Amino acid sequence: MRPLSCYFLSAVLVSRAPYTTASTFRPRILADSNRDGIVNHLDEADKHDWTDTRGAIFLPNIGDSLGRCAAVDLTGSPLSNVELWRCHDSSGDRLLPSSAQYAAPLVTLPLPELSDNATGRIYTEPDHTRDRVRLFWRENDWMTGYSSVWSVVDRQLTFNATNLRSGISLAMDGRELVTDASVWDGSVRVVFEVTDGGRTARDSVALKQAPVLLHHHLQQAEIVLSSAAGNKETIGSGWQAHFLRELEKAVGGDARIVLFNQSTDIWAQDFLEPGYASMPGPDGPVSIRILLRSAQSTREAGRQVFSQLRSAGIGGFQPGSGSGFGWEEINSGGNIETIPPYTSRSGKRWPNGRVIMGTHFGTYPAESMVRFLQSQQVQSPLFLETGWLGVGHVDEMVQFVASSFIELGFTIAVADTTSALSLLRNANLSGHGSTPLVSYTGDASPDAFTAFLDPDLLHNTTISSILADPSFIATQAYAQKYIDQNLALLLREVPLRDQDILRVPTLFKDITYPWPSAPDGHPPRLSLPYPGEKKLKSLLPQAINGLVLGNGKYVAPKQWGPVVEGQDIFAQTVEEVYGRVGMKVEWVDDYMSHHVRGGEVHCGTNALREMERWWDTE
Ligand SMILES: *[C@@H]1O[C@H](CO)[C@@H](O)[C@H](O)[C@H]1NC(C)=O
Ligand SMILES: *[C@@H]1O[C@H](CO)[C@@H](O)[C@H](O)[C@H]1NC(C)=O
Ligand SMILES: *[C@@H]1O[C@H](CO)[C@@H](O)[C@H](O)[C@H]1NC(C)=O
Ligand SMILES: *[C@@H]1O[C@H](CO)[C@@H](O)[C@H](O)[C@H]1NC(C)=O
Ligand SMILES: *[C@@H]1O[C@H](CO)[C@@H](O)[C@H](O)[C@H]1NC(C)=O
Repeated sequence: MRPLSCYFLSAVLVSRAPYTTASTFRPRILADSNRDGIVNHLDEADKHDWTDTRGAIFLPNIGDSLGRCAAVDLTGSPLSNVELWRCHDSSGDRLLPSSAQYAAPLVTLPLPELSDNATGRIYTEPDHTRDRVRLFWRENDWMTGYSSVWSVVDRQLTFNATNLRSGISLAMDGRELVTDASVWDGSVRVVFEVTDGGRTARDSVALKQAPVLLHHHLQQAEIVLSSAAGNKETIGSGWQAHFLRELEKAVGGDARIVLFNQSTDIWAQDFLEPGYASMPGPDGPVSIRILLRSAQSTREAGRQVFSQLRSAGIGGFQPGSGSGFGWEEINSGGNIETIPPYTSRSGKRWPNGRVIMGTHFGTYPAESMVRFLQSQQVQSPLFLETGWLGVGHVDEMVQFVASSFIELGFTIAVADTTSALSLLRNANLSGHGSTPLVSYTGDASPDAFTAFLDPDLLHNTTISSILADPSFIATQAYAQKYIDQNLALLLREVPLRDQDILRVPTLFKDITYPWPSAPDGHPPRLSLPYPGEKKLKSLLPQAINGLVLGNGKYVAPKQWGPVVEGQDIFAQTVEEVYGRVGMKVEWVDDYMSHHVRGGEVHCGTNALREMERWWDTE
């Protein structure tokens, strides 16, 4: 860690008053209350209260900078979920030099006037913060301003006159996340108490732990995650390898691709949701990635958050037990997306955007995750209705994309059956009714996981035959009803006009099923249809369910729509729709790798994006 002393030298000079008697000493403790990344005299004002625009920020220091956290115990048995996540850089009582950069600086100002008998204590309030944060100190060496050894400040530690006279450098970090704001909202008061000549005086400074923020699509993807899955002899592994080759081509040099390699679960969107926490630093924000494992405790792939990705600068969150046990799809990361920053129609600012999640006709996602997201207090979830979708994720119906043509800076893309039906009707009217609906002609050999592979659709469905099927038309109307309702809800909140909305042609298929468990043999994860409701899935690879890279590039599932006069009419329209906001579509064939298994490109990928400053200043 860089020396702290230089940052408050000016404060020290100011405080070097002429000799004063001990009885007039005035202890002072400072943190970066004005959020300029350095601790100095400018932090003195209003340091006792933490507000949206002023108050020091610290980070949960929960990476694993030395790679010392194992996934198995000494007998080689896997650690439980709770044991697995409990190990991290701040689980012990040492501030590892490799993670010291994530600790927030504080200082006590020199008190040269103290007598030899003076004593001091430094502690946090309220009491329940004691196990949640760590405080460290080191003696200020005024010659070098530097000592590499940080010692823990515990309740029993008494600072002596030598320490107090020269001033004490402190570092603070968090050892747990804010998971329930009604228990602890991240607020801490650090108290500096000095006793000398029979008199005790105190000072304090307010800090708050940085919230965990979820990424939104205006942030550029830096690392694209997917799953190797093919290293093991799994069914369909060849398809994943095919998908990865296509993905690599589409992403190109725009982001690094990192593959999960400890699981055969290909749904990299779903077993985690990436987030981050940031605090001001002297050279810009200091940030740590916090990857939220999905609230699906039996979905082993989520353990890779800790066993594979946790490292220097990357920590993870394990949702509590008691809710989110099992593997229900409603708790997948695909059901957690983020509206980019906006001010609502009612005037409420969401400077970091706002999370959206899908409910399934009155059933909410796991409380452990919902409460976690609410407790971060800055992106509180807005709930949409996704119970009509087979898998039931928000990413199957809505997406947020940057748009420099719109004042808000982004717009909403929604799945749209109306434009999709028009494409088919126009093709039919211009004499292409006998064109196959699906142009995919590659290998379509089923395996144990191709639950949605439909030979009739591949070999025996034309534009006119599907248009003549009243149940198909009814399915599109059913989908559109819910899309319209959800869009209306979003538009009551986000100040966009109807004409700003991107309508992405999408056809749905009725897959209302009576299955007591998932078709692929996993523990029950798909919710049963609500009485009187259907369960739908995209009929063609769903264009909206792709990966927004953030630089105008959009990695979307290859459409395999009807080819009319040499053109895939779906692909053509999708390119045109995204082209309206300046986005260029890169197609990735996911027909066999993901589409017939219940998802698309977005479900099979994830993105660690740019981490931004989130705080305001006065
Ligand atoms: C410090 O404490 C010692 C013993 O407790 C006492 O004799 C001495 O007078 C004290 N000095 C001051 C400056 O208070
Ligand atoms: C205070 O403690 C330090 C060790 O941390 C020691 O070197 C110093 O002499 C002590 N000062 C007094 C006044 O007791
Ligand atoms: C798994 O991926 C990590 C990167 O996250 C890499 O360091 C490691 O070598 C990979 N292991 C195998 C067996 O491919
Ligand atoms: C499709 O086209 C045929 C003739 O070109 C017409 O008879 C039929 O009504 C059309 N179907 C639809 C649903 O538009
Ligand atoms: C093809 O569709 C017709 C009706 O459009 C149906 O009678 C027939 O069974 C289908 N064939 C296959 C192989 O699904």
